[in-house]
Amino acid sequence: MTRGIGRPPRGREADSSTEAARLSRELRAHLRHAHEDDLIPAAAPASKPSAAARPAAPTREAAHRALVEAVRACRGCPLGDARRNAVPGEGDLNARVMFIGEGPGFDEDRLGRPFVGRAGQLLDRIMASIGLSRESAYIANMVKCHPMKNPSSPDSRGNDRAPTPEEMEACRGFIESQIRLIAPQFIVTLGAVASKALLREETPISQLRGRWRELSLEGLPAPARLLPTYHPAALLRQPDLKRAVWEDMKSLRAAMDGAPRS
Ligand code: URA
Repeated sequence: MTRGIGRPPRGREADSSTEAARLSRELRAHLRHAHEDDLIPAAAPASKPSAAARPAAPTREAAHRALVEAVRACRGCPLGDARRNAVPGEGDLNARVMFIGEGPGFDEDRLGRPFVGRAGQLLDRIMASIGLSRESAYIANMVKCHPMKNPSSPDSRGNDRAPTPEEMEACRGFIESQIRLIAPQFIVTLGAVASKALLREETPISQLRGRWRELSLEGLPAPARLLPTYHPAALLRQPDLKRAVWEDMKSLRAAMDGAPRS
């Protein structure tokens, strides 16, 4: 039912060198922009991100490694100063589905991996309910560093906040690069913050959720079908939202089963 790791490639590997080159260009442009805007403190070596953004071998994996290195080297906004670890994103680079949250919390900051706290454990169960897993999907966030209420207390729990529009804009090059690199058929945005930011609109999540949209990006071979749903953390606070998410996951499963694998 789902596409596991190690299955035959989807015929896109031939394009990987072009993709790697494009990703490299995008990352350099993103980081140059941050430097020009003086968003990167002088302490951050300007050459490191650019060098890391040039994949040694032009493969999808190399392009992803370059992206991960660029995220780890990034000081494109002040979130980079307080974080313990950047959280680039992870999963199957050929995934049909990409899940996108708002930003890392305490646990993610500790481990450098997305959705590993309580909300993440619930996300694992939500994915499993329709035959998906961390290994068969790709998981990322709008911002790659932990937004904290009090950045001088990175070791305190309960110090989380939503990323600001400015922080998401500073980080946007990374999520867009990830979407181009994975080129998923389906994107599930988790919660109001990621849904509104990615769609660039202010509609409340109660109206966005469950309604299929399309996301086009320059350089993306075909628009991704995008489904906003509630954030798993919201379900922990408000269990009555689970029914809606279950409906959304059934809709995702049906769309996946009905769409040819590109
Ligand atoms: N919430 C998010 O939006 N992302 C994470 O990675 C964890 C919690």
